[in-house]
Amino acid sequence: LRILALHGPNLNLLGTREPNIYGSLTLDAVNQRLVELGHRLNAIVEAQQFNGEGELVAAIHQADQTQDGVVLNAAAYTHTSIALRDAIAAVRIPVVEVHLSNVHQRESFRHHSYIAPVVMGQICGFGAASYELGLRALVDHLRHPPP
Ligand code: DQA
Repeated sequence: LRILALHGPNLNLLGTREPNIYGSLTLDAVNQRLVELGHRLNAIVEAQQFNGEGELVAAIHQADQTQDGVVLNAAAYTHTSIALRDAIAAVRIPVVEVHLSNVHQRESFRHHSYIAPVVMGQICGFGAASYELGLRALVDHLRHPPP
């Protein structure tokens, strides 16, 4: 299996960005952990990060041709982007929504996700482990599709 770990805006600053909320691991460290977990699960994990909404839309379109699924932290676009939601709805491959922080514990503008209705499921609040749980769920779903 081939899985894309796709990171949205400001996640390139992980490690130094509000570490009390997002933890002290860098994005490279998070991606390294995903690649290693991928090895153990027999999946090839590639990672991309974009600050632009259109770039994320394009990455989802492209992933539909090259990947089996996407673990997506859409960051702030989660709460604003109908374009991203439509892109996820348009593709065939499953997408898992992840967040480092528990968005429901935070400001009310983070409580709504435009993408939640079109993803396979959502995992938030476990820090970098949210991505790992998302990767496990996605691989499991792809290997054992529900009837
Ligand atoms: C985030 C939560 C979002 O509300 C925020 O805009 C982010 C990161 C998270 O991983 O906790 O940039 O997606």
